[in-house]
Amino acid sequence: MALFGKKQPQTDVSELILPKHVGIIMDGNGRWAKKRGLPRKAGHTEGARTFRKITRYCSEIGIQYLTVYAFSTENWRRPEDEVGALMKLFKSYLEEAIRDFKDDDIVVRFIGDKNGFSPELRELMDENEECSRERQGMVLNIAMNYGSRDEIVRAVRAIAADVRDGRLSEDEITEQLVSDHLYTAGQPDPDLIIRPSGEYRISNFLLWQSAYTEFVIMNKLWPDFQKEDLDEALRIYSQRNRRYGGV
Ligand code: IPE
Ligand code: IPE
Ligand code: MG
Repeated sequence: MALFGKKQPQTDVSELILPKHVGIIMDGNGRWAKKRGLPRKAGHTEGARTFRKITRYCSEIGIQYLTVYAFSTENWRRPEDEVGALMKLFKSYLEEAIRDFKDDDIVVRFIGDKNGFSPELRELMDENEECSRERQGMVLNIAMNYGSRDEIVRAVRAIAADVRDGRLSEDEITEQLVSDHLYTAGQPDPDLIIRPSGEYRISNFLLWQSAYTEFVIMNKLWPDFQKEDLDEALRIYSQRNRRYGGV
Protein backbone atom coordinates (compact mmCIF):
# COMPACT_ATOMS: atom_id res chain seq x y z
CA MET A 1 0.00 0.00 0.00
CA ALA A 2 1.33 3.41 -0.89
CA LEU A 3 2.35 5.40 2.14
CA PHE A 4 2.35 8.67 0.25
CA GLY A 5 0.39 11.29 2.12
CA LYS A 6 0.06 9.13 5.17
CA LYS A 7 0.60 11.04 8.38
CA GLN A 8 3.52 10.15 10.63
CA PRO A 9 2.35 8.07 13.61
CA GLN A 10 1.82 10.38 16.55
CA THR A 11 4.47 10.55 19.23
CA ASP A 12 3.45 9.37 22.67
CA VAL A 13 5.48 11.77 24.81
CA SER A 14 4.88 9.75 27.96
CA GLU A 15 7.27 7.16 26.53
CA LEU A 16 10.10 9.63 25.87
CA ILE A 17 12.91 10.87 28.05
CA LEU A 18 11.86 14.49 28.34
CA PRO A 19 14.17 17.47 28.51
CA LYS A 20 14.05 19.24 31.85
CA HIS A 21 14.38 22.69 30.30
CA VAL A 22 12.99 23.67 26.90
CA GLY A 23 13.61 27.00 25.17
CA ILE A 24 11.47 28.27 22.31
CA ILE A 25 12.30 31.12 19.93
CA MET A 26 8.75 32.10 19.03
CA ASP A 27 9.46 33.21 15.48
CA GLY A 28 7.47 33.64 12.28
CA ASN A 29 4.50 35.77 13.33
CA GLY A 30 5.18 38.43 10.71
CA ARG A 31 5.49 35.94 7.83
CA TRP A 32 2.32 34.19 8.97
CA ALA A 33 0.43 37.47 8.69
CA LYS A 34 2.05 38.45 5.39
CA LYS A 35 1.03 35.16 3.80
CA ARG A 36 -2.57 36.06 4.62
CA GLY A 37 -2.32 39.70 3.53
CA LEU A 38 -2.74 40.82 7.14
CA PRO A 39 -0.76 43.41 9.12
CA ARG A 40 2.18 41.96 11.08
CA LYS A 41 0.44 42.66 14.37
CA ALA A 42 -2.26 40.12 13.45
CA GLY A 43 0.53 37.54 13.42
CA HIS A 44 1.60 38.60 16.90
CA THR A 45 -1.96 38.20 18.22
CA GLU A 46 -2.11 34.70 16.79
CA GLY A 47 1.37 33.97 18.13
CA ALA A 48 0.23 34.92 21.64
CA ARG A 49 -2.53 32.30 21.34
CA THR A 50 -0.01 29.66 20.37
CA PHE A 51 2.14 30.70 23.31
CA ARG A 52 -0.71 30.04 25.78
CA LYS A 53 -1.53 26.69 24.22
CA ILE A 54 2.04 25.41 24.09
CA THR A 55 2.90 26.69 27.58
CA ARG A 56 -0.05 24.84 29.10
CA TYR A 57 0.85 21.74 27.15
CA CYS A 58 4.48 21.81 28.33
CA SER A 59 3.27 22.06 31.91
CA GLU A 60 0.79 19.19 31.40
CA ILE A 61 3.38 16.77 30.04
CA GLY A 62 5.85 17.50 32.81
CA ILE A 63 8.42 19.93 31.40
CA GLN A 64 10.00 21.58 34.44
CA TYR A 65 11.38 24.77 32.87
CA LEU A 66 10.20 26.56 29.75
CA THR A 67 11.91 29.69 28.44
CA VAL A 68 10.18 31.55 25.65
CA TYR A 69 11.74 34.35 23.63
CA ALA A 70 9.06 37.01 23.27
CA PHE A 71 10.97 40.26 22.57
CA SER A 72 14.66 40.79 22.04
CA THR A 73 16.85 43.79 22.84
CA GLU A 74 17.09 44.21 19.04
CA ASN A 75 13.34 44.11 18.39
CA TRP A 76 13.07 47.81 19.34
CA ARG A 77 14.48 48.46 15.84
CA ARG A 78 11.13 47.54 14.30
CA PRO A 79 8.69 50.18 13.04
CA GLU A 80 7.03 52.17 15.82
CA ASP A 81 3.55 50.86 15.09
CA GLU A 82 4.69 47.23 15.31
CA VAL A 83 6.51 47.84 18.62
CA GLY A 84 3.41 49.72 19.87
CA ALA A 85 1.14 46.81 18.91
CA LEU A 86 3.46 44.38 20.70
CA MET A 87 3.45 46.48 23.88
CA LYS A 88 -0.36 46.57 23.79
CA LEU A 89 -0.46 42.84 23.36
CA PHE A 90 1.97 42.30 26.25
CA LYS A 91 -0.24 44.44 28.46
CA SER A 92 -3.47 42.58 27.74
CA TYR A 93 -1.63 39.30 27.85
CA LEU A 94 -0.03 39.97 31.23
CA GLU A 95 -3.36 41.02 32.69
CA GLU A 96 -4.85 37.69 31.67
CA ALA A 97 -1.80 35.63 32.59
CA ILE A 98 -2.28 36.46 36.25
CA ARG A 99 -5.49 34.45 36.18
CA ASP A 100 -4.68 32.08 33.34
CA PHE A 101 -1.71 30.20 34.69
CA LYS A 102 -3.07 29.83 38.21
CA ASP A 103 -4.84 26.54 37.55
CA ASP A 104 -1.74 25.16 35.90
CA ASP A 105 0.35 26.06 38.95
CA ILE A 106 2.88 27.80 36.67
CA VAL A 107 5.60 30.00 38.18
CA VAL A 108 6.06 33.06 35.95
CA ARG A 109 9.42 34.81 35.72
CA PHE A 110 10.74 37.46 33.38
CA ILE A 111 14.25 37.48 32.03
CA GLY A 112 15.60 40.61 30.37
CA ASP A 113 15.79 44.28 31.25
CA LYS A 114 12.41 45.33 32.63
CA ASN A 115 13.55 48.96 32.68
CA GLY A 116 12.97 49.17 28.94
CA PHE A 117 9.22 48.92 29.47
CA SER A 118 6.59 51.41 30.65
CA PRO A 119 5.91 51.62 34.42
CA GLU A 120 2.52 50.03 33.77
CA LEU A 121 4.03 46.99 32.07
CA ARG A 122 6.76 46.70 34.69
CA GLU A 123 4.14 46.64 37.39
CA LEU A 124 2.24 43.88 35.61
CA MET A 125 5.42 41.87 35.27
CA ASP A 126 6.17 42.26 38.99
CA GLU A 127 2.61 41.32 39.85
CA ASN A 128 2.80 38.14 37.75
CA GLU A 129 6.05 37.15 39.42
CA GLU A 130 4.78 37.98 42.86
CA CYS A 131 1.51 36.09 42.69
CA SER A 132 3.04 32.97 41.17
CA ARG A 133 6.15 32.78 43.36
CA GLU A 134 4.78 30.15 45.74
CA ARG A 135 3.45 27.85 43.04
CA GLN A 136 5.00 24.43 42.65
CA GLY A 137 4.59 23.72 38.93
CA MET A 138 6.60 24.46 35.80
CA VAL A 139 8.82 27.54 35.78
CA LEU A 140 8.01 29.73 32.79
CA ASN A 141 10.70 32.28 31.91
CA ILE A 142 9.39 34.92 29.54
CA ALA A 143 12.31 36.62 27.80
CA MET A 144 11.30 40.23 27.19
CA ASN A 145 13.77 42.94 26.25
CA TYR A 146 16.18 40.06 26.54
CA GLY A 147 19.52 39.85 24.81
CA SER A 148 22.11 37.35 25.85
CA ARG A 149 25.05 39.67 25.16
CA ASP A 150 23.41 42.32 27.31
CA GLU A 151 22.88 39.71 30.02
CA ILE A 152 26.56 38.72 29.91
CA VAL A 153 27.72 42.37 29.99
CA ARG A 154 25.60 42.92 33.11
CA ALA A 155 27.10 39.86 34.75
CA VAL A 156 30.65 41.02 33.91
CA ARG A 157 29.94 44.46 35.35
CA ALA A 158 28.54 43.03 38.60
CA ILE A 159 31.50 40.68 38.98
CA ALA A 160 33.98 43.49 38.21
CA ALA A 161 32.37 45.66 40.89
CA ASP A 162 32.69 42.85 43.43
CA VAL A 163 36.38 42.45 42.60
CA ARG A 164 36.97 46.20 42.73
CA ASP A 165 35.33 46.48 46.15
CA GLY A 166 37.22 43.50 47.52
CA ARG A 167 34.22 41.20 47.91
CA LEU A 168 35.64 38.74 45.42
CA SER A 169 39.10 37.70 44.28
CA GLU A 170 39.95 37.05 40.64
CA ASP A 171 40.45 33.32 41.14
CA GLU A 172 36.95 33.01 42.58
CA ILE A 173 35.56 33.84 39.13
CA THR A 174 34.39 30.45 37.86
CA GLU A 175 31.91 29.22 35.26
CA GLN A 176 29.44 28.64 38.09
CA LEU A 177 29.88 32.20 39.34
CA VAL A 178 29.17 33.59 35.87
CA SER A 179 26.04 31.39 35.60
CA ASP A 180 24.95 32.68 39.00
CA HIS A 181 25.03 36.26 37.67
CA LEU A 182 22.73 35.58 34.71
CA TYR A 183 18.96 36.06 34.69
CA THR A 184 18.60 32.27 34.75
CA ALA A 185 20.65 31.86 37.96
CA GLY A 186 19.71 28.72 39.85
CA GLN A 187 18.03 27.07 36.87
CA PRO A 188 19.38 24.19 34.78
CA ASP A 189 20.70 25.05 31.30
CA PRO A 190 18.25 24.38 28.47
CA ASP A 191 18.42 20.83 27.12
CA LEU A 192 16.50 21.65 23.97
CA ILE A 193 15.90 24.87 22.03
CA ILE A 194 13.22 24.83 19.36
CA ARG A 195 13.11 27.45 16.63
CA PRO A 196 10.04 27.41 14.42
CA SER A 197 9.94 29.38 11.15
CA GLY A 198 12.94 27.60 9.65
CA GLU A 199 15.66 30.10 10.61
CA TYR A 200 19.00 28.54 11.51
CA ARG A 201 20.23 31.08 14.03
CA ILE A 202 20.19 31.83 17.73
CA SER A 203 19.44 35.59 17.52
CA ASN A 204 21.03 36.47 20.88
CA PHE A 205 19.08 33.89 22.93
CA LEU A 206 20.71 32.11 25.93
CA LEU A 207 24.24 32.17 24.46
CA TRP A 208 26.06 31.13 27.62
CA GLN A 209 23.37 28.70 28.75
CA SER A 210 23.14 26.87 25.42
CA ALA A 211 26.77 25.65 25.31
CA TYR A 212 25.51 22.02 25.12
CA THR A 213 21.88 22.50 24.16
CA GLU A 214 20.29 20.43 21.41
CA PHE A 215 18.71 22.52 18.63
CA VAL A 216 15.62 21.57 16.68
CA ILE A 217 14.69 23.87 13.79
CA MET A 218 11.13 23.42 12.56
CA ASN A 219 9.66 24.55 9.28
CA LYS A 220 6.46 25.90 10.78
CA LEU A 221 5.64 29.51 11.54
CA TRP A 222 4.96 30.05 15.25
CA PRO A 223 1.23 30.85 14.89
CA ASP A 224 0.80 27.50 13.09
CA PHE A 225 2.73 25.56 15.73
CA GLN A 226 0.70 22.73 17.29
CA LYS A 227 1.09 20.43 20.25
CA GLU A 228 2.01 17.71 17.74
CA ASP A 229 4.94 19.84 16.56
CA LEU A 230 6.21 20.02 20.11
CA ASP A 231 5.80 16.24 20.39
CA GLU A 232 7.84 15.89 17.21
CA ALA A 233 10.62 18.14 18.59
CA LEU A 234 10.65 16.07 21.78
CA ARG A 235 10.87 12.88 19.76
CA ILE A 236 13.83 14.23 17.76
CA TYR A 237 15.48 15.35 20.99
CA SER A 238 15.04 11.93 22.58
CA GLN A 239 17.02 10.36 19.72
CA ARG A 240 19.98 12.70 20.05
CA ASN A 241 23.18 11.42 21.59
CA ARG A 242 24.51 14.10 23.94
CA ARG A 243 28.24 13.69 24.50
CA TYR A 244 29.32 16.94 26.17
CA GLY A 245 32.73 16.61 24.57
CA GLY A 246 33.18 13.03 25.70
CA VAL A 247 32.84 9.88 23.60
C1 IPE B 1 8.50 36.73 16.30
O1 IPE B 1 7.95 36.83 15.04
C2 IPE B 1 7.92 37.73 17.26
C3 IPE B 1 8.86 38.79 17.68
C4 IPE B 1 10.10 38.88 17.33
C5 IPE B 1 8.34 39.80 18.55
P1 IPE B 1 8.51 37.84 13.95
O2 IPE B 1 7.79 39.13 14.11
O3 IPE B 1 9.97 37.94 14.04
O4 IPE B 1 8.06 37.14 12.63
P2 IPE B 1 8.89 37.07 11.27
O5 IPE B 1 10.20 36.44 11.60
O6 IPE B 1 9.05 38.46 10.76
O7 IPE B 1 8.05 36.21 10.39
C1 IPE C 1 14.14 36.42 17.62
O1 IPE C 1 13.44 36.59 16.45
C2 IPE C 1 13.45 37.13 18.73
C3 IPE C 1 12.13 36.62 19.11
C4 IPE C 1 11.51 35.61 18.58
C5 IPE C 1 11.50 37.34 20.17
P1 IPE C 1 13.80 37.73 15.40
O2 IPE C 1 12.82 37.64 14.31
O3 IPE C 1 13.93 39.04 16.09
O4 IPE C 1 15.26 37.27 14.92
P2 IPE C 1 16.01 37.56 13.55
O5 IPE C 1 15.94 39.04 13.30
O6 IPE C 1 15.30 36.78 12.50
O7 IPE C 1 17.39 37.05 13.78
MG1 MG D 1 11.47 36.90 13.10
